[in-house]
Amino acid sequence: MSDLTGKTAVVVGASRGLGRGIARAFAGAGAQVVAVARDGQALAELAASANIRTEIGDATEEAVAWSVLDQYAPEVVILVAGATPVMRSLQHQTWETFSVNWQADVKIAFGWLREALLQPLRPGSTVVVMSSGAAVNGSPASGGYAGAKATQRFIAEYARDESRRAGLGITVTAVLPRMTPAGAVGQRGIRAYAARGGQTEEEYLAAQGDLLTAETAGSALVDLVGGDLEKVAPGYLLTAAGLRKLPGPGE
Ligand SMILES: NC(=O)c1ccc[n+]([C@@H]2O[C@H](COP(=O)([O-])OP(=O)(O)OC[C@H]3O[C@@H](n4cnc5c(N)ncnc54)[C@H](OP(=O)(O)O)[C@@H]3O)[C@@H](O)[C@H]2O)c1
Repeated sequence: MSDLTGKTAVVVGASRGLGRGIARAFAGAGAQVVAVARDGQALAELAASANIRTEIGDATEEAVAWSVLDQYAPEVVILVAGATPVMRSLQHQTWETFSVNWQADVKIAFGWLREALLQPLRPGSTVVVMSSGAAVNGSPASGGYAGAKATQRFIAEYARDESRRAGLGITVTAVLPRMTPAGAVGQRGIRAYAARGGQTEEEYLAAQGDLLTAETAGSALVDLVGGDLEKVAPGYLLTAAGLRKLPGPGE
């Protein structure tokens, strides 16, 4: 794994699931990690197990993005936080259930990337937006989830382009994990898609092959931001085998 000693990494959505594994991996690689989430107790447990600072806050609030980036001036920002989609067929969604990931995931990507460009983060910084494989494949039982995750990917590309246009030297990329029981979002999805297909969760999972773990996600992201930033692509698929570059717009 890359050595990130001397770098500060803010992990937004680090209290559990994939974000907690990513925060641990960055701390293990020597970074000073700032873990952001709303659940103070879960953050305290994380901080007790690793050398990690914590900030309790709602990442959808613009003031939280501003104050965390202003206070820590991080070289790395990983935006993992997102809502658990309401798993129902389209006709059983309401607009409120359909749009939960737009109010959380999209708002977080928009607010933090906007702040990263406005402050701006220092040249050589990286922002990783945790989208989803659903952004490519769709997710018919989770309302607006796939569209929200696709929009996060677009927002990451827009921010990458604005950084280039303004010569800010901020690298932005979107990472699209495959569904995994390593986080609550995946656990809910697996339960719903197993039931939809008339399978048990065990049967459904057995058909998925090797599953992405939070540890694999963490080490893949450490190596991504610790490597040659010139080579960082606009987007990657993340599976148990690691990161695979996605074709960019027009490729
Ligand atoms: N697991 C999967 O299969 C999978 C697949 C593809 C993509 N993803 C994406 O990966 C990300 C993590 O998924 P996960 O399954 O690990 O989810 P998870 O277990 O539900 O964890 C979500 C994390 O985000 C934080 N969070 C949510 N809303 C927040 C807010 N408003 N402010 C601050 N923190 C917030 C939660 O902390 P608090 O509740 O303490 O705030 C928690 O730490 C999500 O964006 C998800 O869409 C997951």
